[in-house]
Amino acid sequence: MTKRVCIIGAGPSGLAQLRAFQSAAEKGAEVPEVVCYEKQGDWGGLWNYTWRTGVDEHGNPCHGSMYRYLWSNGPKEGLEFADYTFEEHFGKAIASYPPRAVLMDYIEGRVKKAGVRDKIRFNTIARDVRAVDGGFEVTARDCVADTESVEVFDHVIVATGHFSVPNVPHYPGFETFNGRIMHAHDFRDAREFEGKDILILGTSYSAEDIGSQCWKYGCKSVTVAHRTAPMGYDWPDNWAEVPALKEVQGKTAHFIDGTSREVDAIILCTGYKHHFPFMPDSLRLKTANRLAAADLYKGVVYTGNPDLFYLGMQDQWYTFNMFDAQAWWVRDAIMGRIDLPDAAAMEADWKAREAAEDALEDDYACIAYQGAYTMELIEETDYPSFDIEAANQAFYEWKKHKKKGIMEFRDHGYTSPMTGTKAPAHHTIWKEALDDSLESYLKV
Ligand SMILES: Cc1cc2nc3c(=O)[nH]c(=O)nc-3n(C[C@H](O)[C@H](O)[C@H](O)COP(=O)(O)OP(=O)(O)OC[C@H]3O[C@@H](n4cnc5c(N)ncnc54)[C@H](O)[C@@H]3O)c2cc1C
Ligand SMILES: NC(=O)c1ccc[n+]([C@@H]2O[C@H](COP(=O)([O-])OP(=O)(O)OC[C@H]3O[C@@H](n4cnc5c(N)ncnc54)[C@H](OP(=O)(O)O)[C@@H]3O)[C@@H](O)[C@H]2O)c1
Repeated sequence: MTKRVCIIGAGPSGLAQLRAFQSAAEKGAEVPEVVCYEKQGDWGGLWNYTWRTGVDEHGNPCHGSMYRYLWSNGPKEGLEFADYTFEEHFGKAIASYPPRAVLMDYIEGRVKKAGVRDKIRFNTIARDVRAVDGGFEVTARDCVADTESVEVFDHVIVATGHFSVPNVPHYPGFETFNGRIMHAHDFRDAREFEGKDILILGTSYSAEDIGSQCWKYGCKSVTVAHRTAPMGYDWPDNWAEVPALKEVQGKTAHFIDGTSREVDAIILCTGYKHHFPFMPDSLRLKTANRLAAADLYKGVVYTGNPDLFYLGMQDQWYTFNMFDAQAWWVRDAIMGRIDLPDAAAMEADWKAREAAEDALEDDYACIAYQGAYTMELIEETDYPSFDIEAANQAFYEWKKHKKKGIMEFRDHGYTSPMTGTKAPAHHTIWKEALDDSLESYLKV
């Protein structure tokens, strides 16, 4: 096989793609030549923590949105790789909400075992992709050598993530606020806000988790302003949910119900943009952050040019094993094991997925929907099948545990859909576990 495939990004999605091709090769298949461009100096995507904010060491926008002390916000039983379990990696069962460093170690374990690192060109940013006769021309810059390359590929797989380019709204008075205004993308260490009154805008995962972190590491108070609806958890006493922000004067935040508060810092947990500056309009994915992304057949094939694929572009309940399902499926489409239908059928596919998503009534239905999507892809490939209902179940229990105690939900354990093992309790409850290192988490 002489095909050449370009993967852009070596985060969990791009690494899943590398592992998918390696797994076929291991079973004796002739696989395409694969080149992966990764703009950071190491793999792992968002899980590769950086202290940097703004620009990276090469002057490119900093990819990292993760922060110190981040623990998984969902149970690990919902994201476990079917071909490489937590028990295989750690040699024992571990608790259900690992901190970032532990998950990074797990992600790395599988690709180290697969031996795919030599396929990745690190510190190399994809700058431009063009459709040309017989494929794509990809221009990339090696930021260390400071040289540009142009190579031709039969297929391009975009795996650059979509939680890196912040959505930054403006509110009146921001220009003259006498404190710090930052987006969640630039948040790194909650201790910066010890003793401070913080205002958070947004009500999704970043708002919930950054607020919880600041609370855990000793901020004075957390105020969360909601544009649509409050999160509604049973928050600690120094935590308040208030209506939308109207304006800021000096250090005073005024809300639309006429109330106001003095705050030291404003953290914009206002989400991210799907942003592909290296893509021309004809190839650029334009979608909202939702479970059924627009213009993607089976959630991965770009309908405007079916030799182009996007991985992991959906909003995410399922993550690592959904990226695997997508990567195995894309591999098989590229290797001719799966046939693509005509353009009209591909268009009808994503529209039907959108309509089905629009009809979902609650978060439980959304989880089941994404679980069913993941399994739909898995069943069309040789990715090891697993009990998706058991994974759904872990998510359902997680949601109930959050309702019961938002600062205690991480103290629960769930059953692995891969091994059937129930996770042990962690040695320290989350709100008292200030050390998030791998060594601390794994000690008995
Ligand atoms: C703060 C935060 C916390 C999260 N916590 C969890 C969690 O607890 N559990 C969970 O399952 N998920 C979590 N997620 C979701 C996260 O999206 C996934 O876990 C996962 O990282 C997505 O993998 P990805 O490979 O699609 O994207 P990313 O991890 O973003 O990786 C994309 C890669 O592409 C590279 N890249 C980007 N542009 C270029 C370019 N032009 N050229 C070359 N390389 C490029 C980047 O450097 C990066 O390495 C979290 C997300 C955020 C923002
Ligand atoms: N510990 C962890 O594991 C962890 C921590 C943080 C984040 N994450 C992950 O990061 C990803 C992104 O989550 P996210 O919370 O950053 O983004 P998100 O889920 O897209 O949520 C964006 C939020 O911003 C609000 N918003 C948007 N524009 C606004 C505006 N102009 N004014 C006020 N509010 C505005 C939205 O409110 P409306 O509802 O009104 O639209 C929504 O609440 C998720 O996958 C999540 O799992 C994980």
